[in-house]
Amino acid sequence: MVKRVKMAASMALSTQPYKGARDFYPEDKRIQKYMFDVLRSTVEKFGYEEYDAPILEPLELYLAKTGEEIVNEQTYAFEDRGGRKVAMRPEMTPTVSRMVAARRQELAYPVRWYSIPNLWRYERPQRGRLREHWQLNVDVFGLAGIEADYEIISVADSIFQAFHAKRNMYTIKLNSRRFMDYILGEYIGFDSVQSYSVSKLIDRMHKIDRAEFMAQLDALCTPSQRETGSVEKLLDVLGAKRTSALPESVQGHVSLAQIKVLISLLEAAGTENVEFDVTLMRGFDYYTDIVFEIFDKHPENNRAMMGGGRYDGLVGLFGVEPVPTVGFGFGDVTLQQFLELHDLLPKLHPETNAFVILVGDVFTAAQKPIAELRAAGLNLAVDTTGRKIGAQIQTAEKKGIHYVIFIGERELAEGQYVLKNLHTGAEEKHGISRIVTIAKDYRHADDDDDI
Ligand code: HAM
Repeated sequence: MVKRVKMAASMALSTQPYKGARDFYPEDKRIQKYMFDVLRSTVEKFGYEEYDAPILEPLELYLAKTGEEIVNEQTYAFEDRGGRKVAMRPEMTPTVSRMVAARRQELAYPVRWYSIPNLWRYERPQRGRLREHWQLNVDVFGLAGIEADYEIISVADSIFQAFHAKRNMYTIKLNSRRFMDYILGEYIGFDSVQSYSVSKLIDRMHKIDRAEFMAQLDALCTPSQRETGSVEKLLDVLGAKRTSALPESVQGHVSLAQIKVLISLLEAAGTENVEFDVTLMRGFDYYTDIVFEIFDKHPENNRAMMGGGRYDGLVGLFGVEPVPTVGFGFGDVTLQQFLELHDLLPKLHPETNAFVILVGDVFTAAQKPIAELRAAGLNLAVDTTGRKIGAQIQTAEKKGIHYVIFIGERELAEGQYVLKNLHTGAEEKHGISRIVTIAKDYRHADDDDDI
């Protein structure tokens, strides 16, 4: 016991957050708040309603369809005091499917839901990938047609538009699991086990070098498949950059027709930055048809910012009638990098409109105008330290607050207060309502044209 106390005294605790996780200081939280506000208002324009759920789920929720890599290597799992295996959610899709399944009969379809959960994955922290991230999830339940895929991708595209992104800054890539199942199974002739392994290999193909990809592909083929040129046949498909570049004999497949319809719907709506990518597989096992990802075109953020697709079988896993579903997840880390790299983040201001400096012994008498200013809509921080006025002004400046309101005996007697604009240095005397009008609209405070 004595030893432990001694250790604690000699070793300072680390101020660092847990590896791969972030602290959000007010200036960071402000950015997050801005991003989430834009996300929320955009998806709500399409009629999506917000839901939420616990961050802990039974581990088994992810075992069926989330995919081996995430479950075996990336899930934070532990046993609770009652011996239950619990996971910190690595994604929201199984949770939202569980929630829909629980009310399968009562819900009014189509169900349009969104959430912004904090997710945990034990990944190797690197640029664009952390162990904790926030992810906008947007899902529509109960629509089997391509209109739902179109709507979901349009929502994602509208998010970029709402952040004032130009379409040459990002690319929407799409493919179809159904089409790939046909290619790997019927067209190439792989059995279902081979098809599964090859699809996982294709999913990793941009992360490994060509020789390794070829060696692994070769190892998955039977001798007769090697002899009859299955590898070459597959490479021919994987090399196609457009649907029209695919072999003639696969052109008539119904899922390819769906991809083409979806691309033309999006293009007709002005989303011309959409492209077919036959190598896009997506890691999760639950996708059944169209899959898509949006990539930043900036070389420093060359990662998927969002990904999603159709998963018609997940709700049915909970023992209810299946519900056709399409949705996506959009991560905050890559989104913020996108906004920073493309210079799309506006200058953000603290929520506090003004900093009140009390001049003289007016603490009690100042409470009334302070309460009136707050009631009229101002966010005020009051300095009660009695320090030198210069030091108080410096504090306001350091916090990025635009205005200082001075309250002294003379001001109280006149009902007029000195309002100082810390950006321009200008001082004016005004009554309460005028102060509120000026200080609420902080754009007046700037010389520059920030948003
Ligand atoms: P996901 O592709 O794993 O899909 O994640 C979606 C997005 O979340 C990624 O494109 C990326 O921006 C972000 N993200 C994922 N992992 C990390 C990480 N470790 N660090 C930072 N950002 C990350 C899903 O999770 C599906 N459940 C999405 C979905 C919803 N599908 C249908 N509905």
